[in-house]
Amino acid sequence: MPPTLATLDPIQLISTTQAVADEARRGLTSTPKTLVPWLFYDEAGTQLFEQITGLPEYYLTRTERDLFTTHADEIFRTVGADLTIAELGAGTAAKTGILLRALARIQSDVLYQPIDISPTALEEAREQLEHIPGLTVHPQTANYVTESVRIERPSHTRILALYIGSSIGNFVPAEASDILIRLRSELQPGDALLLGTDLAPSLSHTGPAKSVAALLAAYNDSQGVTAAFNRNILTRLNRDLGADFRPERFLHRALWNSTHSRMEMHLESLSAQTVHIPANSAGEALTLRFTAGESIHTENSYKFTPARIADLLTTACFTPIRSFNDSQSLFAVTLASAV
Ligand code: AVJ
Repeated sequence: MPPTLATLDPIQLISTTQAVADEARRGLTSTPKTLVPWLFYDEAGTQLFEQITGLPEYYLTRTERDLFTTHADEIFRTVGADLTIAELGAGTAAKTGILLRALARIQSDVLYQPIDISPTALEEAREQLEHIPGLTVHPQTANYVTESVRIERPSHTRILALYIGSSIGNFVPAEASDILIRLRSELQPGDALLLGTDLAPSLSHTGPAKSVAALLAAYNDSQGVTAAFNRNILTRLNRDLGADFRPERFLHRALWNSTHSRMEMHLESLSAQTVHIPANSAGEALTLRFTAGESIHTENSYKFTPARIADLLTTACFTPIRSFNDSQSLFAVTLASAV
């Protein structure tokens, strides 16, 4: 059983609520209204995301998992032995087990350091992985976007950092570079990074092309799980801040923004409506007015070209070594070394 919020450190709970309040205030008073994607990942949102990863339309997770299954041995042959693994945004680390098992077969002791904003997800990760022979799991609860992370380096090991699942896609280009630059500052030359990125739709006339239609379906699934995931951000604000959002009064919208090469998710107000966030220890009262059709922009999910991946890595002082793509060029896993 994953721990409930009641089992968490009260100090941690208060600071999380304060961060939620600050982000809600900043995003919902700006024009256009926005909310940052990390707000999705409370316990319910983490579960809904897990459900998304198993949807037929959501090709990202299974494509990356298949790439790991096919290429794990090759990845570790390329990086070399004596590694310590650290993972940004590990979540429940469902796919990471494939890599860790492959490494544990060729290296007797492996330290795995998953870093995530969700302590419940990390607890689940630990439970799933700690039985792998030779593996030690040291989870760290942190918002790696706003806080610095500590990466342990047992002597005589190099670090392989994992930033997979196209988590980097949630960030605008400047933030994405900052995250990699910050990560790089924790690493030394000779350490490595494995970066998972969802690929941009292609215009290829020779090979199989990735269509915008496939992207739209992945973010607007037929069972409505993504819609529930999107609306859950409002439910979270109700619970954490005492807001009175009626999530059913907002429509889930997913659209392709070709200018920025990104999928966007929005919550569109079905009518003119007013929402209140009461005064509490985390801030003053806020009254929010929505016109009919006005939306809250809740997520960007950038889609990358190979050139863009190389550029991002180079900017942060990593050199791309190898890229592993599926046969339909949906997703890329890129191995890079710190220089
Ligand atoms: C976890 C950020 C990679 O952008 O595809 C899934 C989150 N949003 N469905 C993504 C998400 C809508 C996901 N990432």
